[in-house]
Amino acid sequence: MKFFGTMKNNSGVLEIGGIKVTELAEKYGTPLYVMDQELIEENMMKYKENFKSDKFKTTVVYASKAFLSKAICKLVEKHDLHIDAVSGGELYTIKASGISMERVHMHGNNKTDDELRMCLDYGIGSIIIDNEEEIERVSKICLEKDQKVKVMLRINIGIDAHTHEYIQTSKHSSKFGESIFDERFPEIVEKITSDKNLEFLGFHCHIGSQIFDTKAFHEGIEVMIKETKKISEKLNIEIPEINLGGGFGVYYTEKDTAIDVEKFMKSMIEHIEKSLEKESMNMKKISIEPGRSIIGNAGSTLYRVGGIKETFGGVKYVFIDGGMTDNIRPALYQAEYEAVLANKLDVVEDEIVTVAGKCCESGDLIIKNRKLGKAEAGDLLLVATTGAYGYSMSSNYNKAQRPAVVFVKDGKSAISIKRESLKDLVRNDVDMEL
Ligand code: LLP
Repeated sequence: MKFFGTMKNNSGVLEIGGIKVTELAEKYGTPLYVMDQELIEENMMKYKENFKSDKFKTTVVYASKAFLSKAICKLVEKHDLHIDAVSGGELYTIKASGISMERVHMHGNNKTDDELRMCLDYGIGSIIIDNEEEIERVSKICLEKDQKVKVMLRINIGIDAHTHEYIQTSKHSSKFGESIFDERFPEIVEKITSDKNLEFLGFHCHIGSQIFDTKAFHEGIEVMIKETKKISEKLNIEIPEINLGGGFGVYYTEKDTAIDVEKFMKSMIEHIEKSLEKESMNMKKISIEPGRSIIGNAGSTLYRVGGIKETFGGVKYVFIDGGMTDNIRPALYQAEYEAVLANKLDVVEDEIVTVAGKCCESGDLIIKNRKLGKAEAGDLLLVATTGAYGYSMSSNYNKAQRPAVVFVKDGKSAISIKRESLKDLVRNDVDMEL
């Protein structure tokens, strides 16, 4: 397994943030999400330091759907990032963290009126309007509240990024955004710019997630800049901002060549500066929205091994005390992961095993046919790169209790999200008179 951030081999035991995972398991129980705070902060700083220009302002917006807790919001503010939300629940969580709501930008292809009201009540930075119908609703709610709001328009730029079909977002039939190929597109933009309640900032795009093909992002830059110029000339308006979305691919297994954030941010900036010059354009601000590439490698899941089973069919299973309830990605996207016996780092990895969860579901497999040391009941198995879309997509299927999330740094650990209790599982279950 590839080591990330502060991971170290401490006499055969994996250490993260200066703490042996055996101690973490003892103290907090398993399954446990372990977040390497130093690596999260390092990633945030890498984006801040490399995605900047003296020709325009830049903003790095952390995509909170990857992982959201009050602690991560505080780190967002500490490193002067912004943060996006895509639901009332995410908005509420961010608000509860106490950070400045001007840093918040609201997404969603089907925001409810209540969510839009929340945006105005909380005084968030901007709303990213998804479609024509939403323009009128946002405007109506502004009128109702006698408030104005800054908005962007999410546009579909038709770039075919090579990633899993479920996380592609910019194909012509995607449910997100308004297509720039639609002949009514200028009319839709004009609806926003002519609305007194809305302050139009510019266009937003997001071409997909876990993308390694850097050409797709470069193509995105070209299209976004050209389109902005075209529309601003056609409607004779100034368009001060564009947001290029996130989606920068990270390492899960040896099949993935992660995007080098430092290099790639520099090359994006260079490309943007050149394109703006070529088009004789000025932009006030350019934003990006990384989620996975900030938090993905910084998070791991620590499990306790239970049974080991060798089937008649020849598969050797290592059973763990979690599974698809804390990591749905293998079942949903055929995602692959690396793992290690975290209390036995020095044993030879000479067995081919399948790591299976404890859900009543044959597809509840976290890792299929990978090398691992000989596991025994009671061992600790750590799966790497579960920081993004792990906790945030977790569920209570089979009444599993969501694991705790613990942050580790410099030999200290602290709980960011508590483990769900059995009581939590029935907190909304009403005793009916039957
Ligand atoms: N901005 C927008 C508008 C997005 O929709 C997303 C992700 C991001 C930014 C951040 O993308 P990232 O940098 O994290 O790739 N559940 C899937 C991923 C879904 C991504 C949804 N949108 C997974 O587990 O792979």
